[in-house]
Amino acid sequence: MTANLGNRQDFDCFRTYLERVCGILLGDNKEYLVSSRLRTIMEEQSLTNLTQLVERIERNTQLREKVVDAMTTNETLWFRDSHPFRILREQLLPELSKEKRPIDIWCAASSTGQEPYSISIELEEYKRRNPGALMGERIIATDISPTALEIARRAEYEKLVLSRGMTDEYLKRYFKEVQEGRWKLNPEITSRVQYRSLNLLNTYSMLGRFDVVFCRNVLIYFSSDLKTDILRRIHSVLKPGGYLFLGASESLTGLSDLYEMRQCSPGIIYHRKG
Ligand SMILES: C[S@@+](CC[C@H](N)C(=O)[O-])C[C@H]1O[C@@H](n2cnc3c(N)ncnc32)[C@H](O)[C@@H]1O
Repeated sequence: MTANLGNRQDFDCFRTYLERVCGILLGDNKEYLVSSRLRTIMEEQSLTNLTQLVERIERNTQLREKVVDAMTTNETLWFRDSHPFRILREQLLPELSKEKRPIDIWCAASSTGQEPYSISIELEEYKRRNPGALMGERIIATDISPTALEIARRAEYEKLVLSRGMTDEYLKRYFKEVQEGRWKLNPEITSRVQYRSLNLLNTYSMLGRFDVVFCRNVLIYFSSDLKTDILRRIHSVLKPGGYLFLGASESLTGLSDLYEMRQCSPGIIYHRKG
């Protein structure tokens, strides 16, 4: 292990702490990852090992937020995996719009905004093609990372970021170039997305109830017990008959009492039972 992180015991102390505060489970081989992500903080704080860091963050909430922020992986892209967005557009919105009431969507690990804004673009496109079909819609987007939330709220992206999944058609329709190579999303897309800071380990009761929940590419970082607990609690905030999307590499096991898996060929959605 590198000098500024300490020994194996220090690493174990840190990973136990990290899992307790935000669920992120670090494998035995993640010392390099921890070292690269926390080097600056360790130096700023003049700390020589991770046990000292844990002792300090137990007493310092701001530093704890900074450390958790540094340990999150915010990898995301526009219209990631495409199927969830097609299923939303072709199946869920036509079904939900028949109920003639506002639609509530929760994006449970929104990272830097690409996922909730892709959902918002789908809603806007649906409204363009079906005038008067939607009776209002709200997207609540939550994440634990303050840095990711700040980028998401700003809604300005570099060309390189946009090249990861944003089409030229939507770029022209929904963004304005605010600076050479830097584009800002229009209010028609941003205004229906409300961002909140939320640790998925904490209660969801203040968020309300949802027709659709996107909880993608975050449960992979958690233990199977925690994943089950989160999926049970998501069930309790889904409205009767609501839908859940997981990431392409994620699955839902042992919860057949709560969710029914629906194959959409291609793509999968989970339908709330009960
Ligand atoms: C890999 S990104 C996935 C983003 C998006 N859902 C997607 O699929 O493209 C994972 C996100 O989960 C967030 N995250 C990690 N642990 C969390 C927790 N305990 N509570 C809330 N968000 C968390 C990270 O900050 C990160 O932005």
